[in-house]
Amino acid sequence: MNTQVIKIESNKDFTEKITRAAGIIKKGGLVAFPTETVYGLGANGLDENAVKKIFLAKGRPQDNPLILHVSSIKQAQSLAEEIPEKAEKLMNKFWPGPLTLILKRSKLVPNIIAGGLESVAIRIPENDIAIELIRRSGRPLAAPSANLSGKPSPTSASHVLDDLGGRIEAVIDGGETQIGIESTVVDLTGKNPAILRPGKITRSQLEKTIGKLNEKSPANLEKPKSPGMKYKHYAPEAKVLLVKNESETTEILEKFSRKKIRVLSYKNENEMAKNMFSDFRKSDATGYDLIIIKEVNDNNFGSAIMDRLRKASSE
Ligand code: TXA
Ligand code: MG
Repeated sequence: MNTQVIKIESNKDFTEKITRAAGIIKKGGLVAFPTETVYGLGANGLDENAVKKIFLAKGRPQDNPLILHVSSIKQAQSLAEEIPEKAEKLMNKFWPGPLTLILKRSKLVPNIIAGGLESVAIRIPENDIAIELIRRSGRPLAAPSANLSGKPSPTSASHVLDDLGGRIEAVIDGGETQIGIESTVVDLTGKNPAILRPGKITRSQLEKTIGKLNEKSPANLEKPKSPGMKYKHYAPEAKVLLVKNESETTEILEKFSRKKIRVLSYKNENEMAKNMFSDFRKSDATGYDLIIIKEVNDNNFGSAIMDRLRKASSE
């Protein structure tokens, strides 16, 4: 299969290009598209056969459920059995935006989306291309991150092509994604809301809107609530060492002087999130033995960054 690259360059051809991409989705094909977090691999979320192709293209285990991307709260309502008051508050406050809500699923949601669970993950992305694609497709779009299973999430169309070129019908190139790491996932099906995956929307932002969340971090939950958490996440070919300060870096550089070492450092957390996955990909392509990267404070947006760093540095 030849993967079309649909590059969005001007306002003039925006509608025509997105209409073309939506045509592929309507026929049951796969189109990768940008969101504010990372690129997603989209298919008609109500078409089982189309959704199956996502799992095949990514090499993703079938019990790992997918997020449905919608363009309005009304569309989200049709996919959920009920919308608890707290969910409604979060939708009003943070959508469109990098927040995914887990709700009890309605009969509209195919089994394959939910990976055997009774719930469904939903979000409205904050990206014009994504929203227009959802609207013109006329369906919720199932979209996991558009990487091969086990690789870091893609933050540019070229990352998508590196992983999925030849396996999907098209990718819409809308430039680099703003945030660079995946959305915050919040479970609203239990007694207390719980964060299943930290992201740009922080615990304290959520708590300001709906009160106390479950204290337990996902890693402490006995049975993984979010099936994605039990799978091995991306770790670069190079060993990743997290350091606390400059002197630790110096020590490591001296100790491993004969190795090919890449030190990654960033101005601030936003820069780090935006570039981290891309830098991991580059380091792998260049063949580094070791990546040294400085930890950030494990709170607010830092918790989301540390979550991804721990996964990248685990064996
Ligand atoms: O920012 C994002 O969320 C990106 C963009 C494309 O929207 N998408 C994304 O999708 O990261 P994915 O499939 O790579 O990660 C979704 C996570 C997985 O860990 C999955 O297990 C979890 O959400 N998830 C999906 N449905 C769920 C459900 N019903 N219950 C619990 N966890 C669920
Ligand atoms: Mg993913």
